[in-house]
Amino acid sequence: MQASTASNGQHDSDTVFIHGLTRTELETLGTKCREAKERAYCPYSRFRVGCTLLVSSPSPAFSSSEAVYVSGANVENASYPVGTCAERVALGTAVVQGHRQGSFRALAVATDVAPASSPCGMCRQFIREFCRPEMPVFMYDKNGEFVVMTVEQLLPMSFGPESLPPPHELSAARTRS
Ligand code: THU
Repeated sequence: MQASTASNGQHDSDTVFIHGLTRTELETLGTKCREAKERAYCPYSRFRVGCTLLVSSPSPAFSSSEAVYVSGANVENASYPVGTCAERVALGTAVVQGHRQGSFRALAVATDVAPASSPCGMCRQFIREFCRPEMPVFMYDKNGEFVVMTVEQLLPMSFGPESLPPPHELSAARTRS
């Protein structure tokens, strides 16, 4: 898409379009998760999933706060339960690159089916660990159409890091009882 200049002098590509993302960021997310799907290793299910995270990181590991895109795809195994979903591959990759809570702006997944497929329960919990409740999850179908829901909508009343009291409080409570 060609970026054009709006009457306020801003480029369309700089204007928030949906859930805090510009049109360009959303288009890039969609393109990258479809590309990631091409790299899926899924000889058993043949169900390809690609996932891309939009990360804006103030991490010292990065020289600028520019948007970063981190992708993953599902990686299956002859021992079926050992396989990993695309979302956890992408998020795990981002975390080992140094990205943390507060850095993630959006997640997108793409599959070869319609209607769009949504992250499995285990991935929802994994996403919830690192991503804020309002973060959008874009789910692309085989035609490139998407459905968007927030992390909170996908996993309401969830359990997370702040649900756990500090370990020393729990051991103190055990000693008392
Ligand atoms: N899969 C994902 O990658 N993400 C999900 O959220 C659901 C399922 C993968 C796992 C497996 O390789 C294939 O899709 C079929 O379940």
